[in-house]
Amino acid sequence: MPKKFTVTPWEVSGEIDYDRLIKQFGVKALDDRLLKRLEKHAGELHYFLKRKIFFSHTYFDTILDEADKKHKFYLYTGRAPSGPVHMGHLVPWIFCKWLQDKFNVTLLFQIPDEEKFLFNESLTFEDTHKWAYENILDIIAVGFDPKKTKIFLDTEYANVMYKHACRVAKKITFSTTKSTFGFTDSNNIGEIFYTAMQSVPAFLPSIMENKPTYCLIPCAIDQQPHFFMTNDVAPKLGYPKTATILCRFLPGLQGMHKEGKMSSSIENTTIFATDSPEKVRDKINRYAFSGGRETTEEHRKKGGNPDIDVSYQYLTYFLEDSKKLKQIYDDYKSGKMLTGELKKITIDVINSFLKEHQARREKAKNQIEKFMLRG
Ligand code: TRP
Repeated sequence: MPKKFTVTPWEVSGEIDYDRLIKQFGVKALDDRLLKRLEKHAGELHYFLKRKIFFSHTYFDTILDEADKKHKFYLYTGRAPSGPVHMGHLVPWIFCKWLQDKFNVTLLFQIPDEEKFLFNESLTFEDTHKWAYENILDIIAVGFDPKKTKIFLDTEYANVMYKHACRVAKKITFSTTKSTFGFTDSNNIGEIFYTAMQSVPAFLPSIMENKPTYCLIPCAIDQQPHFFMTNDVAPKLGYPKTATILCRFLPGLQGMHKEGKMSSSIENTTIFATDSPEKVRDKINRYAFSGGRETTEEHRKKGGNPDIDVSYQYLTYFLEDSKKLKQIYDDYKSGKMLTGELKKITIDVINSFLKEHQARREKAKNQIEKFMLRG
């Protein structure tokens, strides 16, 4: 029996079969031909691509066509501010920075504060405002170029966005949103309108440049339904179709099969960007699901299973050195490396990553205005 899983912008659960998801969503696998074309432009491939962490796309070939012609395109991504940033959020942003550096392009970063207000019963606008400006520090800490990065809150940039959102909304029927997002009669009408606001930044490149300008959206695959709507509307408003490049989900410490993707609402099993080294150590030692054997003796004899081990999964995301990674895989599988040793490596890798992130986050505190797009 095929396993059950759910992926929507509002819910990700179950053990995801990404090959099946590609078919379900009607997106395409990032194949070798496309990766070769990308490598030609970038001079190298980010390890997220080699390890299939970014694994699928829509219309990415049109972005490479634009790059071939030396045309400018934009990047666009976003973060709805409902709580602190965790390691999973950082994955698409790290990839955005790599693309920004390699292609020397502008990034639009949407903070849809109204999204969380509308979809979350208990969040007030005071809460979402607070989290927005906290999260912006983590975004800046990723290392984006302030001259080429524009961050905006929907409620603050609404004077520019609203008319465009209405143009989008006018082309989307209620029945289309119902079938795309599974809305019912009990959803509030703000939730139904919201997708128009998430579409607008895909058109801002053309609006800002005053001519058709392509847009590439790096994000986790759960956001894709919004951009199907965007592309339904794009030709009707005279804009090019928007492209997406899509990543998998970083699992929570208990693993995809037990708790799904990393989530800010499950504190113990989530590593936040602001966690101290001791906290990271404790969380991983205590909660990281292990592919090791019951006893040391048995582990030495039969070996561990890195494929289900969450510490190992994290290394595939955060340890860039592929040779080292392979060695760890082999040593763990053969039984030469014990779970405690694997966890220690993961703790060190994450803590050295976070040490630098947190230093840049501190510096970001007086750089916010350099990045904000004000209406
Ligand atoms: N809806 C996203 C979230 O829940 C936020 C978001 C807005 C976004 N625009 C985006 C994410 C574009 C990726 C790409 O976090």
